[in-house]
Amino acid sequence: MKIAINTGGGDAPGLNAAIRSATLSALRMGWEVVGIQNGYGSLYTDEPFIPLTRERVRGITMLGGTILGTANRGNPFEMPYKKQDGTWDAEDRSDELVDVFRRYGVDALVAIGGDGSMRIANRIAKKGVKVVGVPKTIDNDIWACDISLGFDTAVTTATDAIDKIATTAQSHRRIMVVEVMGRYAGWIALHSGLSASADAILIPEIEFSLESIVDKIFEREAKGEKYSIIVVAEGAVEVGGSRFVKGKKIGQSEQLGGIAEYLESELSERTGKESRSLVLGHLQRGGVPSAYDRLISLRFGAAAVRVLDEGQVNKMIVMQQSTIRAIPLEEVADKMKLVPLDSDTIATAREIGICLGD
Ligand code: F6P
Repeated sequence: MKIAINTGGGDAPGLNAAIRSATLSALRMGWEVVGIQNGYGSLYTDEPFIPLTRERVRGITMLGGTILGTANRGNPFEMPYKKQDGTWDAEDRSDELVDVFRRYGVDALVAIGGDGSMRIANRIAKKGVKVVGVPKTIDNDIWACDISLGFDTAVTTATDAIDKIATTAQSHRRIMVVEVMGRYAGWIALHSGLSASADAILIPEIEFSLESIVDKIFEREAKGEKYSIIVVAEGAVEVGGSRFVKGKKIGQSEQLGGIAEYLESELSERTGKESRSLVLGHLQRGGVPSAYDRLISLRFGAAAVRVLDEGQVNKMIVMQQSTIRAIPLEEVADKMKLVPLDSDTIATAREIGICLGD
């Protein structure tokens, strides 16, 4: 048996731990393991795979990033290329992928990725390649999976940053708006905002009104609390407004961002208070994985190999109620796990007086 490991899409802390455990488990079974570099990019070069050996994966559990490299523009079904006139277009190069797998004798693909990567993995599976998906994304928006690798570290990083912002906000009696990642889901904003005692948390699942945030700021003022911390998810939307999109390149999903700056000026205007904003950005994807992320990454990686060994294919490893399961990849592709509005986390935020913008 020969398996290829791929890490596609945005990186997340814990990827290396998953690569290591999948590699070591497979090697113990006597399988051969290779890595695909830079998303699916290396498949279209003279060196499509690199051997993954015991030596190559030694000491990487605690390393952030991915030793394989990744790319956000590496969808084999929509590969961007530059046309002669200098503009960009995309083409379907998935048949070449299947061909490379066949030529190099690769029996199965372990695709470690987020929702976009799972959509791609599902399409690859439909072309006859055996696939097992491993859930990775700091956004935590993978369907049917309680937690994806990278989320815990991202929340910890964001929480730590908001804690630091709070001390300067207090000194200057300012409104501080902190924009966090998460794409169309509010998991990072909700979990870090709650953990860092934000005064308002704005998530894509709840449209916000400026009035509601302003009311919260004045309510705090009336109690002598002269500063406020607003945590906003990059994908949050104002009632009657639209998402803040910075741009979209061919073969890539839209790039979100800019809402914090908007809130900084609107809130300052409406309250007469000084306001500042900052975007935590890719800081949330970096750094060493937390112990929890290392652990689930190791569990996910080993489970992927276990599932293949059992002869199960086209599955996705998920965590459900602290138990690892394998569910059909088909079930996950094209779906997104948003924050349920009836969850106890949302209830907790409301019950302790956090403004959710509605
Ligand atoms: O999906 C992970 C993520 O970090 C999102 O939270 C964010 O919107 C996006 O990736 C940023 O992607 P890029 O690395 O292309 O800027």
